[in-house]
Amino acid sequence: MADTLALTQRPAWKALSEHYRQIRDVHLRTLFDRDPHRGERFAVEGAGLYLDYSKHRVTEDTMRLLFDLARDSGLRERIDAMFAGERINITENRAVLHVALRAPRGSSIMVDGENVVPAVHAVLDRMSDFSRRIRDGSWKGHTGKRIRNIVNVGIGGSDLGPVMAYEALRHYADPALNCRFVSNVDGTDFVVATSALDPAETLFIISSKTFTTLETMTNARTAREWILGALRDDNAIAKHFVAVSTNRAEVAKFGIDTRNMFEFWDWVGGRYSMDSAIGLSTMIAVGPENFRAMLDGFHAVDEHFRTAPFERNLPVIMGLLTVWYNDFFGAQTVGVFPYDQYLKRFPAYLQQLTMESNGKHVTLQGRHLDYQSGPVFWGEPGTNGQHSFFQLIHQGTKLIPADFIAFCRPLNPLGRHHDLLIANVIAQAEALAFGKTPEQVKAEGTPEWLVPHRVCEGNRPSSVIMADQLTPETLGKLVALYEHSVFTQGCIWEIDSFDQWGVELGKVLALKIIPELEADTEPQLHHDSSTNALIRRYRERRKPS
Ligand code: F6P
Repeated sequence: MADTLALTQRPAWKALSEHYRQIRDVHLRTLFDRDPHRGERFAVEGAGLYLDYSKHRVTEDTMRLLFDLARDSGLRERIDAMFAGERINITENRAVLHVALRAPRGSSIMVDGENVVPAVHAVLDRMSDFSRRIRDGSWKGHTGKRIRNIVNVGIGGSDLGPVMAYEALRHYADPALNCRFVSNVDGTDFVVATSALDPAETLFIISSKTFTTLETMTNARTAREWILGALRDDNAIAKHFVAVSTNRAEVAKFGIDTRNMFEFWDWVGGRYSMDSAIGLSTMIAVGPENFRAMLDGFHAVDEHFRTAPFERNLPVIMGLLTVWYNDFFGAQTVGVFPYDQYLKRFPAYLQQLTMESNGKHVTLQGRHLDYQSGPVFWGEPGTNGQHSFFQLIHQGTKLIPADFIAFCRPLNPLGRHHDLLIANVIAQAEALAFGKTPEQVKAEGTPEWLVPHRVCEGNRPSSVIMADQLTPETLGKLVALYEHSVFTQGCIWEIDSFDQWGVELGKVLALKIIPELEADTEPQLHHDSSTNALIRRYRERRKPS
């Protein structure tokens, strides 16, 4: 890092603060009036993705200052450090190498003096072989029946990526296979996911980096009882359970043959793992070739991020724009609106990726932040959101920068549907930016008293990310785009984007409360008065009357 001063004291930050004061009231209408080519000049294409960021409240000066900030924050060096396998996750003392998961065969990425790429491809080859055997029916269940149901049991990164990818790539999935996902420790999740399934035709993939997560291990034990209850033979486990984990010892302890375990490594964060063996359900559903095409998409954006100049680097631009609104305009959230029904779980996936990564309160050195870190990410697919919460984005008092994601060619061409869908994306971005002035509203014959209600002030920023079609490759590109945007933000904020200490406390407290709920005799409670009262009330009332 070029400067050891605290972020807000650095000249690059101060220059942006000063610039913000000059630009904060400038309307997007003015920016577009001033430059008739703005729509083309503030757009970049990389790795086959098109990013239109012209409808952001930025000028060339803004972007120059943001790129200065990125350079001053050592972004280039941080990118190089990640790709070189340095232990940039300092609080867990780990390398951060999800980029190695999609490195081409024959390339080299070193961790502690060892090239990890051959091991990555060895696991991919085993996954491919296993996926083919499930897909062609040569892997049989214990009774000799073909496997038709795949149930992934996992939570957080061991669930959200697989679910999102399965939904996103459903068009490419084998319709003869039925994929389901169990994550919640709420028994309803297991019951609903396994309803109407024949255990003799069901394979469970127990996905857990640590293989100790309460929810996953509880669901895994229930799954084992469900299988054994129906098939009545311990030998059935070998045909109906496989594991995806970094923890061989715990997998063996659970009773899964480690020959049926697909490995990944501590340098893959949970929320960065959908392209590791955690993607086994995805590979079974869409086939090894499609899975590898997805990895190629990831890799194309990795290379773009690693090599493109910041001025033409999509994840860098997206990350810097997030910092701009979050830290200077005081925006609290980012809305992500994929205009594609297959991407319905993409916002939920992004919530873990962005918020577990950048929801941090101290710098890498442990200093409390005196600026805002990660915003809240949320969203729903379009056009549905337009008929629920978009009102607030258009006319509410909160500034919500939006990402629109759209594809030029539909996977399910149906009459005019796709043109209507895409007209809506483009119209929303236009409406948010330019709004409707009082003069325009009056000119429509609106009575004076109604005018303020109908005015849309505009000046609401948005990006449009456009790709040709939702393919496995495009999905990989989109995910990598956000992964590296998150990295860019974390670098500016000087935080560790790869740990998640905040989730530990609740887990530990739950472990203390479980025996208090389950004790046969009234336990001595030593919590605060609220916690004690809740435990007592639950104990009193949990039995059906
Ligand atoms: O509790 C948060 C978390 O640790 C996530 O970071 C992770 O993706 C999830 O739990 C699941 O962890 P595991 O894969 O070890 O079961």
